[in-house]
Amino acid sequence: MSDLSYASLTPGKPVRIDKDGESICVARIGDEVFAIGDTCSHSDASLAEGDITDFKIECWLHGAEFDLRTGNALTPPATAPVHKYSVTVDGDSVTIDK
Ligand code: FES
Repeated sequence: MSDLSYASLTPGKPVRIDKDGESICVARIGDEVFAIGDTCSHSDASLAEGDITDFKIECWLHGAEFDLRTGNALTPPATAPVHKYSVTVDGDSVTIDK
C-alpha cells in the first residue's frame, strides 16, 4: 500500500508523514523522492518544516543541514545522522520503507 501520492509532492516542498509510529520527512527533488527521519538529531524539531537547497534540508530551529540522500548531518549544531529510508516510486504511488 502506498504511503503518499507522487502527484501530491511539490519539488522542494518537504512533507511529514507518520508511519508505524515514526515521523518521516519526505522530499521531492526534481523527479526523485527522498525520505529521512523527520526529527532533527540535535533537538526536537521537524525537519519537514525546514528549507531545501539542492539535496540539503536545513533545520528551522538552529540551522543544521542534513543530506536528504544519506541522512548525514552536514553542518553543526547537529552531528549525528537521521535515519535514511528507502523510497519506491511506482507510477503515482510512493512507498517508504525502513
Ligand atoms: S533542533 Fe535542529 S539544529 Fe537544533
